Amino acid sequence: MFSNDDLSSLRWDATSGAVEIIDQTLLPHTLRWVHLDSLDAYCHAISYMQVRGAPLIGITAAFGLAHALQENPSDAGMAEAFESLLATRPTAVNLRWALEKILAEVTELLPFARAEAALQCAVELRAEDIANCARIGDNGLALLRQLDAGDTLNIMTHCNAGWLATIQWGTALAPVYKALAAGLKLHVWVSETRPRNQGTNLTAWELGRAGVPCTVVADNSCGQLMRQGQVDCVIVGSDRTAANGDVCNKIGTYLKALAAADNNIPFYVAVPESTIDWRCPAGDQIPIEARDAAEVLAIAGIDAAGENREINLAAAGTRAANPAFDITPAKWVTSLITEHGSFDASEEALASLRVQLGC
Ligand code: MRU
Repeated sequence: MFSNDDLSSLRWDATSGAVEIIDQTLLPHTLRWVHLDSLDAYCHAISYMQVRGAPLIGITAAFGLAHALQENPSDAGMAEAFESLLATRPTAVNLRWALEKILAEVTELLPFARAEAALQCAVELRAEDIANCARIGDNGLALLRQLDAGDTLNIMTHCNAGWLATIQWGTALAPVYKALAAGLKLHVWVSETRPRNQGTNLTAWELGRAGVPCTVVADNSCGQLMRQGQVDCVIVGSDRTAANGDVCNKIGTYLKALAAADNNIPFYVAVPESTIDWRCPAGDQIPIEARDAAEVLAIAGIDAAGENREINLAAAGTRAANPAFDITPAKWVTSLITEHGSFDASEEALASLRVQLGC
């Protein structure tokens, strides 16, 4: 069971139909698979960030809707499950994208046929995600080759846009994995990504497992590293890309883009088609998730005895705000790297992609 999916964030067993995810809240200290066996478990996994990263959120929701249809395939049951899953997190457009893909497949079917068709669609979305991320890796590798002068190529990334955020490969990290396989000498600056520390907890773990040399730095170090000439390019992911090329990604991305522009450093955003919101004309219209202030005021980890601990950083009663994403205007993005190729982050380039895709 699950034999082919060692390095996969969500695995599905064709015989039993079981779906398991890696509980990412426990990484890097514990690698635990969690069986998702109810609509509530799917919703919890997404909102509690056991799974996170735009593509993985979408695929998980797709399997969640398929599961819900096994229990209640009526129109009302389907609508209720759709709304519950959609409400789990507001920013990554992949969530709605994947749920709508399932609805498009099953709505016209008789209820008894819906669950099977939905599961089939979820399985296909999962496979497509793997293939698309691999293509993003190839297209990103072509850009990295242009920067490669034979010395170590220093790439900076933010948050986690690796295979943990997708199914396999990742978006921003796919070019890194492809470059490693192609024999390029690499080093990755991993920005810690306060307050949830996806860089420290997830990206550094992923890269370490793959044998990619990497160094974790405090978010605030990144501008200085760029000024010192220690960064050849920045590659990040996107949770939602507006039709004008503005990108919405983990909080702190915008400041990196500004520092990269000031230092003439290419700033690439890896964007699968599933993160493009054609209905959203500009970044300012993207809903920014406001998470619990407690995430800013405390920090979690394990102590010397291996026990999970949450440590309060602030005095009791301290107020905090926790916007989880920010918008980087298209003008600061050097290129979007997609599964369909790399191009300018501009309204014109995206409009021509849309024509090409016929969507
Ligand atoms: O809050 P998260 O951890 O879900 O945020 C994830 C990111 O911001 C990623 O950079 C983005 O989803 C792209 S993942 C391929």
